[in-house]
Amino acid sequence: MSHSLVTMAYIAATILFIFSLSGLSKQETARRGNYYGMLGMAIAIVATALSGQVTSYGVLLGALVLGGAIGTRAALKVEMTQMPELVAIMHSLVGMAAVLVGYANFMDTSNPLIGVEKTIHEVEIYIGILIGAVTFSGSVIAFCKLSEKISGKPLLLPGRHWMNLVLLIAAVVFGGIFLQQTESGAGILPLAIMTAIALIFGVHMVMAIGGADMPVVVSMLNSYSGWAAAATGFMLSNDLLIVTGALVGSSGAILSYIMCRAMNRHFLSVIAGGFGTGAGGPEAVIEGEVQPIDAQETAQLLLDAKNIMIIPGYGMAVAQAQHTVNEITKLLREKGKKVGFGIHPVAGRMPGHMNVLLAEAKVPYDIVYEMDEINEDFHNVDVTIVIGANDIVNPSALDDPNSPIAGMPVLECWKGGTTIVLKRSMASGYAGVGNPLFVKENTRMLFGDANATMQAVLKELKG
Ligand code: TAP
Repeated sequence: MSHSLVTMAYIAATILFIFSLSGLSKQETARRGNYYGMLGMAIAIVATALSGQVTSYGVLLGALVLGGAIGTRAALKVEMTQMPELVAIMHSLVGMAAVLVGYANFMDTSNPLIGVEKTIHEVEIYIGILIGAVTFSGSVIAFCKLSEKISGKPLLLPGRHWMNLVLLIAAVVFGGIFLQQTESGAGILPLAIMTAIALIFGVHMVMAIGGADMPVVVSMLNSYSGWAAAATGFMLSNDLLIVTGALVGSSGAILSYIMCRAMNRHFLSVIAGGFGTGAGGPEAVIEGEVQPIDAQETAQLLLDAKNIMIIPGYGMAVAQAQHTVNEITKLLREKGKKVGFGIHPVAGRMPGHMNVLLAEAKVPYDIVYEMDEINEDFHNVDVTIVIGANDIVNPSALDDPNSPIAGMPVLECWKGGTTIVLKRSMASGYAGVGNPLFVKENTRMLFGDANATMQAVLKELKG
């Protein structure tokens, strides 16, 4: 394939990736966005394979088959609730690739460079390995935390910010030493020390982050993996990899920012870690009586209501209750009720988690509202059903400055008529904090697996 043809293919792939990202930003166009991405990647792989740079097609084919098989198996096997872990472990592979490409480039003596070119190439190698190693070890820890292989609690070492600062300064100092080496291969020692520092930094950074900040960490690591890929692109002089890496890096950073805003947290304080410690004072004790309700009474309340809001959370995903919820929604709408869904931006365990579940159950898009669209309207709602959600409807985020989730915007359902909360017990949610909503006067608790209780309500409604 001629050089200009490869360039054209790369431009086409880049445009498809941009279309893909813009398609993924809306539920209606997300499927199309995925197709654009797949087509762009297919073009990128074919163009790179035919670009004349490949030295062994056997190795390339072997890697494609092996990687493709592992990816296909993982995608087929993964449960929706395990998606963030899969994403985290995939990011670690991008980081590892950047480290390996960096070392391969460093050891490759076939094209000796001199002067400025040599320095630029060495800076690319150093930064590529640095970002790659942080991404790798940080993503492995994120994977272990999300899959509960290690505790999700933040690890707060004394003087941890100083430790981070020292590691950062050491990485810069060893960078200087690395660049000063003139003899071929002499820079391996500072390079190896920096790699160890970056690995420790990645572990320490993610270990210090816990509880409700994990989603931001995953999207931040997504951003890092993009920059690691861009750095790999510089090392390999591959324009497409640079552009694609920059797209992933910047979109991940924007997503992290949006999520921080949704949780009313500063990005820097998330990265500094320590979530779950609150403002220092004791958390408010939750006092009051829980008022249980059964399926029959729930059905009656729904039949008496005109305006119904459904707030899904992580428990709906666990119970896989979305199909039953959709059937109830259809039935209530047929009876002339106004039914809407209120989606918190960090409901569930990944961005867009609830939207994906509702789309899967074929809930119409036009009755699914974002938090900002409905929070002012709860006084018009007669009945709110909270399905397996906890932190996202916790009033102490607004009322208790000592709560670990203080300041996080929440769906203020208690301002409406009756709230019915579906969950199995009085256990806390992801952030591990008590929820005063459950003991409010206008709250009723419908205990049990969300799918089983929704099925029972559906039966009552039909009966
Ligand atoms: P959570 O606060 O985690 O609450 C989920 C509730 O669902 C639990 O209290 C649990 O109570 C209940 N539940 C679990 N299985 C159930 C089942 N089979 N049937 C009925 N109920 C069940 O969820 P949320 O309100 O969606 O809030 C999300 C939290 O996760 C936030 O703190 C957020 O910051 C964090 N987070 C979000 C993301 C993203 S990006 N969305 C990623 C990681 C973390 P029982 O055990 O009593 O049933």
